Amino acid sequence: MDRETVLVGIDAGTTKVTTLIGEVGRTGDVNIIGYGIAPSVGMKKGMVANIDQTVNSIASSIEKAERLSGYKISSAFVSVGGSHIGSQNSRGVVAVSGHKREVSREDVARATDAARAVQVPSNREILHVVPRGYIVDGQEGIKDPLGMSAVRLEVETHIVAGAATSVQNLSKCITQANVAIDEMVISSLAAAEATLTDTEKELGVLVADIGGGTTDVAIFVDGAVYHSAVLPVGGINVTNDVAIGLRTSLNLAEEIKIKHGTANLNEVQPEELLNVAVLGDEGGQTIQRRKLCEIIEARMSEIYSLLREEVKRSGHAGMLPAGVVLTGGGARIGGAADLARDVLEMPVRIGSPQGVGGLMDQLSNPAFATPIGLLLWGAEHVGAEPLTAYSNGSSVGAGFGRVVDWVRGLFPG
Ligand SMILES: Nc1ncnc2c1ncn2[C@@H]1O[C@H](COP(=O)(O)OP(=O)(O)OP(=O)(O)O)[C@@H](O)[C@H]1O
Ligand SMILES: [Mg+2]
Repeated sequence: MDRETVLVGIDAGTTKVTTLIGEVGRTGDVNIIGYGIAPSVGMKKGMVANIDQTVNSIASSIEKAERLSGYKISSAFVSVGGSHIGSQNSRGVVAVSGHKREVSREDVARATDAARAVQVPSNREILHVVPRGYIVDGQEGIKDPLGMSAVRLEVETHIVAGAATSVQNLSKCITQANVAIDEMVISSLAAAEATLTDTEKELGVLVADIGGGTTDVAIFVDGAVYHSAVLPVGGINVTNDVAIGLRTSLNLAEEIKIKHGTANLNEVQPEELLNVAVLGDEGGQTIQRRKLCEIIEARMSEIYSLLREEVKRSGHAGMLPAGVVLTGGGARIGGAADLARDVLEMPVRIGSPQGVGGLMDQLSNPAFATPIGLLLWGAEHVGAEPLTAYSNGSSVGAGFGRVVDWVRGLFPG
């Protein structure tokens, strides 16, 4: 990357919409120069449930970020979630062309196209075709085949697709908020960008972004994504359980959960008491804190059991030495990592977003791994000229440089 540019990430989650504006330096470093966080209304389980409400939520977060930075946003990298998202691995094979029999960019693009040509039903839209590695004349484990002498080139890819209508509803909302889409990135891959180290990805690791409505999962093996999925459970389920179990309102349940909750029952003494307002009872009730935490522990255990199933489904049970990295607001509950270690029987750490500077005061917690990852994804993929760019004849980085228009002065103060 030979010049500075500005990128935008928009993460429309089930509970909050985050818009981040990041300046990308000559060396690829990313600094946040504007952010806008707005409550999300109109989304359910990571999907658009009401267009107008979602557009308003997105527009409000965009406006905050524009005011803070003095930039007008014209396009953005956008996260996509929801349990309609599924993945599969596919291999593409081509004969190396050209009289020199050296692997060219064109051969790589053709191989990726061949892998992409899997049977995808017409009601599904392909979101990612990620090259995992190459096989050159039978030699496996090649990361960059360009220039190698060969007759036959194979590529292993990870393909992610979602329900076409869900994807279209989200892009409709972004467009109606007057922003063009640079690229859609599934939440788990964005969260991985902001939290996983290269070593973890090489060794084998699972990242789980526990949001409000969904838990977005990606498994990395040999440095590349091998499996991805979205589970339809998250922090909102925990809050609902607390509200029902303690017979209190959702707002109060959310507050109590965050203030007094933990998923690690070893941290809770039986004599600890809480006063909780009860629906229809002015005086409220006194409960054991343990009762609250048992409710939380039960639901968090369920989420972790689903993660364990997902590891099994991927075929990598017992083969993820770097363990599990938890992100998302749901991972902020006390004892989240302790309980996960028990249920999953793997090393577990909480992943706070890394690798960006600038206005990070409010953003350096796991709930912002996805939006921060969107900027890192953008910084990497815009500069790197993704291989698929050659197959459709247009460069993904075409929007580069016109991502935002400089309009400082338009926004007073
Ligand atoms: N400090 C905290 N302690 C416990 N839970 C928290 C804390 N902060 C946030 N949460 C929970 O995190 C959840 C929201 O997480 P996040 O902001 O990652 O979700 P989202 O991106 O809006 O939703 P999704 O990714 O599912 O579409 C809520 O259920 C909230 O209760
Ligand atoms: Mg999220």
